Amino acid sequence: NKESRSSRGALIVLEGLDRCGKTTQSGRLYKYLEEQGHSVESWRFPDRNTGVGQMISSYLANKSQLDDHAIHLLFSANRWEKRSLMEEKLKSGTTLIVDRYSYSGVAFSSAKGLDIGWCTAPEIGLLAPDLVVYLDISHEKAAERGGYGDERYEQLEFQKKVAGSYLALRDSSWKVIDATLSIEDIEKKLREVVLDCMMTCHKGKPLSQLWL
Ligand code: TMP
Repeated sequence: NKESRSSRGALIVLEGLDRCGKTTQSGRLYKYLEEQGHSVESWRFPDRNTGVGQMISSYLANKSQLDDHAIHLLFSANRWEKRSLMEEKLKSGTTLIVDRYSYSGVAFSSAKGLDIGWCTAPEIGLLAPDLVVYLDISHEKAAERGGYGDERYEQLEFQKKVAGSYLALRDSSWKVIDATLSIEDIEKKLREVVLDCMMTCHKGKPLSQLWL
């Protein structure tokens, strides 16, 4: 019918420190929405499958060195190269669950000492999420979760700075969920805020752009 043809999908973003449980939760959310019959896709940034993504991946694995500004712009370019597909999907009614987005870009780079305004600039004009969910965990608790891996940013002191950057970026529209709750409790809270957001988008909330 006319209404369902014109209704769009929601852009849902999950953010948080490394090992906060984002990836587990986006997987479970994706499965749930799909089972409920929604058109949904699970995305993540960095998207390591593109040429730019491979450069990022090699940097994160400490296999290459890059100036802090240069890697920041690569992360941003990695989002830009997916922007038109993202818009197409949303407009055709597909909801996207995105594991990390521009906020990771700004939080991680500004934690290195780069100016926040400089970090934000290349993100301007990307699609604005309809919902940002922050899975909240302290850097100490996150580190206890089987320890960090070998990637460049998975270090206690750095994650502490990232937590501070996220705190500065958060606004009242973000939904903050305590990431130390059980997987099932987090999942339940996440479903609630996501279904609510999908409803708002379905009713005609327009797509907007960062970083206004
Ligand atoms: P991942 O573990 O979610 O794949 O992310 C890899 C790392 O990259 C993680 O430590 C967060 C960091 N990151 C940035 O520094 N800037 C960005 O724009 C994104 C998306 C991730």
